[in-house]
Amino acid sequence: MPIVVIAKDPADYQAWIEQEETRIAAAKAAERELLAMNMSMEELMSTGERVYQGWCVACHQATGGGLPGIFPAIKGSQLVLTDRAAHIDIIVNGNPGTAMQAFGRQLSLKELAAVITYTRNAFDNNTGDTVQAADVFAVQQGKGE
Ligand code: HEC
Repeated sequence: MPIVVIAKDPADYQAWIEQEETRIAAAKAAERELLAMNMSMEELMSTGERVYQGWCVACHQATGGGLPGIFPAIKGSQLVLTDRAAHIDIIVNGNPGTAMQAFGRQLSLKELAAVITYTRNAFDNNTGDTVQAADVFAVQQGKGE
C-alpha cells in the first residue's frame, strides 16, 4: 500500500501544530458559546416564525392546523403539548417512512431551537417553555433530555 509522507522541517511542523491548536480552540470556544446561549422567548419566537414560514408551512399550514388526514396539526398536538423530548426528537430525526423529514442537518441548532420553541407556543399551544440550542444538541448526540 503506498504511503504518502509529508516531510516538514521542525520549525514548519511546530508552526503547523500551533495553527491547528488555535483552529481547534476557536472551534471549541464557538461551540461552548452556542451551547451556553440562552435565547430569550422573544428572539426564539421571531426566528422560529421565520423558520416555520420557510420550512414547515407548506405541510402544517400557516394556521398550524395541518391538512386533516395528511399532515397533522401542530395546533393542539398532544405530542407537542405533552412530550417535549418526543417533540424535539421528531424535528431533529423526523419520522422515517413519512413525509416528516429529519431537520437535524438542514437547520442550525439555533434555528432548530427556535422553530421548536415557536411551535410549542404559537397557535394557542402556549406551553410557555423555551427550547435552547443545548437541548437540541443533547438529542442530536443521542443523550435525550
Ligand atoms: C412535506 C411535509 C412536511 C413538512 C415540510 C414538515 N412536516 Fe412535520 N409532519 C409531516 C407529517 C406527514 C407528519 C406525521 C408523521 C407521522 O406520521 O408520525 C409530521 C409530524 C410533525 C409533528 C408531530 C405532530 C404530531 O402530533 O404527531 C411535528 C411537531 C412536526 N411535524 C413539526 C414540523 C416542523 C416544525 C416542520 C418544519 C421545520 C415540519 N414539521 C415540516 C409533514 C411535514
